[in-house]
Parts: sequence; structure tokens; C-alpha cells
Amino acid sequence: KDYFSREHKLAGKKVVVTAGPTRERIDPVRFLTNFSSGKMGYAMAGAAAEMGAETILISGPVSLPVPSGVTRIVVESAEDMLQAVDAHYDTANYVIKTAAVADYRPKAVADKKMKKQEGGSTIVLERTVDILQHLGQQKKGQVLIGFAAETNDVGQYAKEKLERKNADYIIANDVTEAQAGFEADTNRVTVYGKNGFVQDFELMSKQQLARQLLEMITDKEEPHDS
Ligand code: CTP
Ligand code: CA
Repeated sequence: KDYFSREHKLAGKKVVVTAGPTRERIDPVRFLTNFSSGKMGYAMAGAAAEMGAETILISGPVSLPVPSGVTRIVVESAEDMLQAVDAHYDTANYVIKTAAVADYRPKAVADKKMKKQEGGSTIVLERTVDILQHLGQQKKGQVLIGFAAETNDVGQYAKEKLERKNADYIIANDVTEAQAGFEADTNRVTVYGKNGFVQDFELMSKQQLARQLLEMITDKEEPHDS
């Protein structure tokens, strides 16, 4: 194959990437969220675009520039992210779920700012939809890639998520490692796939890692002659 096709392995493909945290409103001035910086997801979207894909980045609220060649859709809550992903799912070839989606949201959202009172308080939470699991149930040939940030038993949890969500790959990292946390510009991951596939990646920048991950996955999904 020529240089062009090697560099643009995702030409003609549509890649949907989700990134960042979600925000789950409590009242008009408050919300629940998490420490996701969006950096890994933005790097994945940038790398997909570099490789020639039509790239849709569905992003929770973060302050990062849109990577070159990427179309960004900004969402707030897990529910908004679900709707946006669903709208692009049928036409997607790869869906990469880098987002740290909130698992719970307040059951009731106050329409006025809540006022403080004497004593403690309780917020009742309900589950959000597991977007990746939902996509796994509807899968029609899309390659589904999840991320898992863990603090312990990384491999065991990653394999459980691969099964439960019917994903093709889970890219797992230990966020207790200094250079692999949410805010870091570097990451070290292990990829888990079907049939016991496991591959470790070295510590590197999120940009470099994104390229290597997409190289590896596209090679495995559509082997090209050398
Ligand atoms: N995910 C999702 N929708 C959710 C929760 C998670 O799509 N409501 C996706 C994430 O984007 C990620 C993968 O599932 O690609 C794994 O997320 P993670 O939070 O590690 O898994 P959970 O199933 O939520 O398990 P837990 O938080 O209990 O470890
Ligand atoms: Ca979760």
C-alpha cells in the first residue's frame, strides 16, 4: 500500500468520540461532576481526524480547543450526551467513549436556587443511562471502544466492562499513577479486547498514545497488506 493509504487509514470512515465530564444539575447554580479534563478524548478525536476520518467529537463542558478537522458538539448532561451519540450511531464506524459520564444524577432538579438551612441535607440520586452499554446492545458492525479509569483491580474491572457493555475494546488506566491521572498530559494504558486480547502501552503523551491506539485498533479491525 502507498504512503497515502497508510497515513489515512480512516479515510471514508466516521469516528464518533465522546470526551470530558458531564454535569448533572442540582439547581440553577449547582451541579455534580467529576475530574475528567477531556484531554484524552480530544487527543483521540484529533488523531482520528489526522488519519482521515470524518470525526464527530461529543464533548462535555471543558475548555480545550477543537482539534483540526474535528466537528464538535457540546453537551452538558449524560442524557444530552446519550441523545447526541444516538443521532450519529447508525452512520458511525467507530465509537470511542472517552467521556467520564456521571453514573448518577439528582432525582429532582430544583427550579430555584436552594437555600441553606440548619443541619445537614440529602440529595437523592438516580442512575443515568449507561451509554456504552446501550450502544453495545444496538451494535450493528460498529467498533465500540470504552475507557475505564480505575484506582484498583484494573484488569479485572476492565474485562468485566468489556463483557457487560458488549464493547470491542476497553482502554484501562490506573488514575492513582502520577502521570496517568485526569489532568495529566501523559497516560499509560492497557487495552483489553475480545478473546483474551491484552496489550500494554508505554507511558507517553496523550497525543502520541491516541495515535498508537488508533493504529493498533485499525490494524486489528482491517488488516492491510504491508
Ligand atoms: N459509560 C457510559 N455511560 C455511563 C457510564 C459509563 O457510556 N453512564 C462509559 C464510559 O464513557 C467509558 C466506559 O463506559 O467508556 C467505562 O466507564 P466507567 O465509569 O469506568 O464504567 P462504569 O460502568 O460506569 O463502572 P464504574 O464507574 O462503577 O467503575
Ligand atoms: Ca462510571
